[in-house]
Amino acid sequence: MKNPKENCQGYSLDGIRIFPDRTEILNQLRLPFIEEWLVTSNYREVTKAIKDMVIRGAPIIGAAGAIAMYLAVLEGVGKQNILYYLRNAYLEIVGARPTARELAFRTDEVYKVAEQNIIYGNNSFPVEETYKVVLKIFRESIESTEHIINEGISLFTKKSNILTHCNTGSLAVLGRGTALGIIKEAFKRGLVNMVYTGETRPFLQGSRLTSYELKNEGIPHKIIIDSSAPYLMSKGLVDMVIIGADRISSNFDVANKIGSYSLALAAHHHKIPFYVAAPMVTIDHRLKSGEEIMVEERSENEVLFLNEKRIAPEGVSALNYSFDITPSTLVTAIITEKGIIYPEK
Ligand code: MRU
Repeated sequence: MKNPKENCQGYSLDGIRIFPDRTEILNQLRLPFIEEWLVTSNYREVTKAIKDMVIRGAPIIGAAGAIAMYLAVLEGVGKQNILYYLRNAYLEIVGARPTARELAFRTDEVYKVAEQNIIYGNNSFPVEETYKVVLKIFRESIESTEHIINEGISLFTKKSNILTHCNTGSLAVLGRGTALGIIKEAFKRGLVNMVYTGETRPFLQGSRLTSYELKNEGIPHKIIIDSSAPYLMSKGLVDMVIIGADRISSNFDVANKIGSYSLALAAHHHKIPFYVAAPMVTIDHRLKSGEEIMVEERSENEVLFLNEKRIAPEGVSALNYSFDITPSTLVTAIITEKGIIYPEK
């Protein structure tokens, strides 16, 4: 990725750009072939982009939620019942995708500052105050990504073959990436032999996005069919698995892209380390275990259609859980910006 650029006005990153009057979102649905940016000052358009997965990946949808909340404040200037309007905007934004903790967490940070200023301050339309929070979120998130990368590198003992899932790079995160950021840095240091990236049905984040990022960095990799991972492991082709996370409960059960749990089971069977890289905000201390995490179920059409063509018989339905829960007993370690957590076995 290009170096994240900050100036007093905003940030320009691989997947999102922010300015005081608008945001620009890279349309990930059109990658890897077309780089198209959605330009908007409308919080509802940003919310729709999150819902439709034009922008996806836990940390970056957190950032998009924050900027959507800010745009709601900007659009609300002059409105009579501003608190009611902002509350509704907040609920719309956080409802766009339920599993990733960062969406609600970051949107809430901006919302609270807006509310506090309106109720206790003298400012009915706290535009500058909320934009400052958005800038703080971007700065913090970029910094924490770099710390995660440094922590993750310490786990490498040799030049390795790494299996990853979904997309956790600069399209999903503010900065180089969590799991994929670690892989990028490991490659720079001569610690990567081969990366295997699962296709990640049905949205194909692995074959469309992770492969796009790995190719841009010149990192040797192969796309694999999701279900082939256990066989690769049995052949000794995988030294470690590194994935990201959308939400982690206080006992360290991990919600991540559907298919992560199967990888963890297979890695456990083959005695391969299974690492999860995520910022601390992903850990939701209110939740005792993964059972309490809300797992998003998306439209069955994502499974039944490919490139808008139906691929299953008419009248047949599909079950499309977007995430699964990996029990902490299968997680070797969680790599955070504050250090490495080893869940109790
Ligand atoms: O449905 P997506 O593409 O938003 O799912 C993304 C993932 O599951 C990622 O692994 C997760 O958000 C971590 S991103 C660093």
